[in-house]
Amino acid sequence: MTSADVLILGGGSGGYACALRSAELGLSVILIDKDKLGGTCLHRGCIPTKALLHAAEVADSSRESENFGVKTTLEGIDMPKVNEYRDGVVARLYKGLQGLVKSRNVTFIEGEGKLVAPNTVEVNGVNYTGKNVVLATGSYAKSIPGLEISGRIMTSDQALNLDYVPASVIVLGGGVIGVEFASVWKSFGADVTILEGLPHLVPNEDISVSKALERAYRKRGINFTLGTKFASATQSDTGVEVTLEDGKILSAELLLVAVGRGPNTANMGFEDNGVATERGWVVVNERLATNIPGIFAVGDITPGLQLAHRGFQHGIFVAEEIAGLNPVVIADINIPKVTYCEPEVASVGMNEEEARAAFGDEVNVYEYNLGGNGKSQILGTAGFIKLVAQKDGPVVGIHMVGSRVGEQIGEAQLIVNWEAHPEDVATLIHAHPTQNEAMGEAHLALAGKPLHAHA
Ligand code: NAI
Repeated sequence: MTSADVLILGGGSGGYACALRSAELGLSVILIDKDKLGGTCLHRGCIPTKALLHAAEVADSSRESENFGVKTTLEGIDMPKVNEYRDGVVARLYKGLQGLVKSRNVTFIEGEGKLVAPNTVEVNGVNYTGKNVVLATGSYAKSIPGLEISGRIMTSDQALNLDYVPASVIVLGGGVIGVEFASVWKSFGADVTILEGLPHLVPNEDISVSKALERAYRKRGINFTLGTKFASATQSDTGVEVTLEDGKILSAELLLVAVGRGPNTANMGFEDNGVATERGWVVVNERLATNIPGIFAVGDITPGLQLAHRGFQHGIFVAEEIAGLNPVVIADINIPKVTYCEPEVASVGMNEEEARAAFGDEVNVYEYNLGGNGKSQILGTAGFIKLVAQKDGPVVGIHMVGSRVGEQIGEAQLIVNWEAHPEDVATLIHAHPTQNEAMGEAHLALAGKPLHAHA
């Protein structure tokens, strides 16, 4: 098959979700990728890194087991074995995804695709056409000008595949990737220092969450400098040396560059065919349409949050849009976010600062400390759930920090996206003893009837 209703370039989260949903809706689909189906998320991002983070949690549990009266000795980290476990997880999911795509009759073409006309993508000399074209080529790990990625200076792509635990690491960037890798390496026994140019770690989160994470990292012995920009780095056979703009020099075995991801849109014929881009991002309207009729773009190549689940939702949206189902527009602000470091960070909706900018004084905030939550005490974690609500109105943001709080994001996103009022949630029952109870308690308090909390 060389022509289809939907022609998709890129088989990552956004592209394959669009393929599966399009096929479900009875549309014929061609899906093109130069690499493995599943993209960054499955092969180089979400899944393999979370496997490492789980191994890190196991290491922490063994190291701290005496606190629970269990005697163990952590002999060390067998990185090849950790990687084998991680690869096993990825391989099983990859096989499942391939089966899924096949069973829905999606035609998968492996090869590098280039847009050669608004409705045509060329792969290895063969032209494939689509009534609709969906660009879903994802993102790549960026560096900063003058900092070449090679040898001991690496991005998450290389860091993920190390077959040893470095003795010491400098992590450039205290955003999501930076704090997650710092967490893994610290748990595996490395000496870790994060360099963040802005005044806080995870600077896109509510400031109280950033501060709590900083406290937790300090306690874990993870070093960080905030508000100081990186100046330069050099490497030798034995290590790296990093100079900051304030003149401070740091050295370590490796440097991880985690300063953001850029859109993968160069040299693929997008601009040549009139598709509007801005600093590399494909410009789309709220219905994910580009300026060229019949061409859509989804996921990381569109400006906004770079998250796999945003990509999935974009893909589903575009499939339904093409099928004429008029799907509901996806707003970035209400997309849930989880950072899987220890302790975890999870949030959805407006943070306090954004809510105050939008509603002035008409904002109610409540922070429920996990100190009052039985299960969190059992686990031995500190943290909180912070609610941001409009006065006499709905909850517009939920911000959490603490071990395993990522698991609470499901209810949090329902609350925010369904525009629940604190009183609505306060009537719902949260099972005891779970960490989820903290969600109920926070809403009880904001509704004016705190149970295990002070008003
Ligand atoms: P990021 O944008 O989250 O963080 C980059 C950090 O580097 C920022 O805090 C920035 O201030 C800092 N920075 C930039 N230049 C600097 C300089 N010269 N000196 C010092 N600091 C500097 O990007 P990151 O962490 O690379 O992640 C890329 C994308 O991947 C993000 O959009 C993230 O959301 C996504 N991702 C999501 C995950 C999740 O959902 N759990 C996991 C990993 C990545």
